[in-house]
Amino acid sequence: NKKEGLWFQRACTALGDFGEGSSLPTLWDALPTIAVVGGQSSGKSSVLESVVGKDFLPRGSGIVTRRPLVLQLHRIDEGREYAEFAHQPRKRFTDFAAVRKEISDETDRETGRSKQISSVPIYLSIYSPNVVNLTLVDLPGLTKVAVEGQSESIVTDIENMVRSYIEKPNCIILAVSPANQDLATSDAIKIAREVDPQGERTFGVLTKIDLMDKGTDAVDMLEGKSYRLKFPWIGVVNRSQADINKSVDMIAARRREREYFSTTPEYKHLASKMGSEHLGKVLSKHLETVIKSRIPGLQSLINKTIIELETELSRLGKPIATDAGGKLYMIMEICRAFDQTFKEHLDGIRPGGDKV
Ligand code: GDP
Ligand code: NA
Ligand code: MG
Repeated sequence: NKKEGLWFQRACTALGDFGEGSSLPTLWDALPTIAVVGGQSSGKSSVLESVVGKDFLPRGSGIVTRRPLVLQLHRIDEGREYAEFAHQPRKRFTDFAAVRKEISDETDRETGRSKQISSVPIYLSIYSPNVVNLTLVDLPGLTKVAVEGQSESIVTDIENMVRSYIEKPNCIILAVSPANQDLATSDAIKIAREVDPQGERTFGVLTKIDLMDKGTDAVDMLEGKSYRLKFPWIGVVNRSQADINKSVDMIAARRREREYFSTTPEYKHLASKMGSEHLGKVLSKHLETVIKSRIPGLQSLINKTIIELETELSRLGKPIATDAGGKLYMIMEICRAFDQTFKEHLDGIRPGGDKV
């Protein structure tokens, strides 16, 4: 397969030498992970769902997320989107309500229908034409005290579990804090600061702005006057429990969120920098920057014009992006093509073979 072979050579040149004796990284390893951290019921699962743009996670008051969920998004060229769990290989889910039920059932299989937590992750993959290749992690909420039915060590158990994900330098932290609580007491900020003191990979997400006490607003928090982060705070309005009970869908929820920020007098001036859609855009932009810095050879790829990228893709025989994701989509697509070719060639090249 000559075309792929040539592409492989070019990609290797572009990506440079990984160094003698290094275990060869794949592009998946180079791609960042996004994890949500914060107190229980702060809105972590809700925020993660809106970043992905799909309804599939169990949400609700109390301790709902009781095991880490490692979610891998895989971009496919075409076809209907589907999900697959590592614990049920070859079973394809096309109904995302069934995905949510399976997450909840699989949680119970490990912990029983209790308030206990487990550090054993659930691995879920979503294959879709509407995602970029990315790993996201939903985590149980940080708590202050053990409640009935929980072990005494639960507070530190959860903290250690969360830390084990967010301490990795390639983890982007979404520090989720509810606006109806004081930022000084935010568990999300506390643990994020511990692993990322300069705030280089921490994004503050302020939830529940709609639930603040009458006469108070989140302007000081959103403008960084209460707690300054390197990246500006992003306020969101997720679906309330009543909305969840009424199965309000994501499109309706987003529309209402947009209206909320653009019509509330206090937030009008901030509206363009608020909301789930804006959060999604900010994260895409950040991912591009991170990938760019992580793989020096990718810089040239990223700096290419759309036309050059399109030419590259057509040489590969891949379809051209028609959606708004544009450049990032194409870069991800090239990464993906490279990643597959890379794996296929890996056995032939190592060990003791040609230097890549
Ligand atoms: P998690 O425990 O941190 O994962 O939080 P969830 O996403 O499960 O949300 C906990 C509860 O808070 C659910 O009942 C949500 O409907 C509700 N919730 C989350 N974010 C918001 C928000 O911005 N506004 C309102 N009104 N409710 C929210
Ligand atoms: Na919850
Ligand atoms: Mg949750």
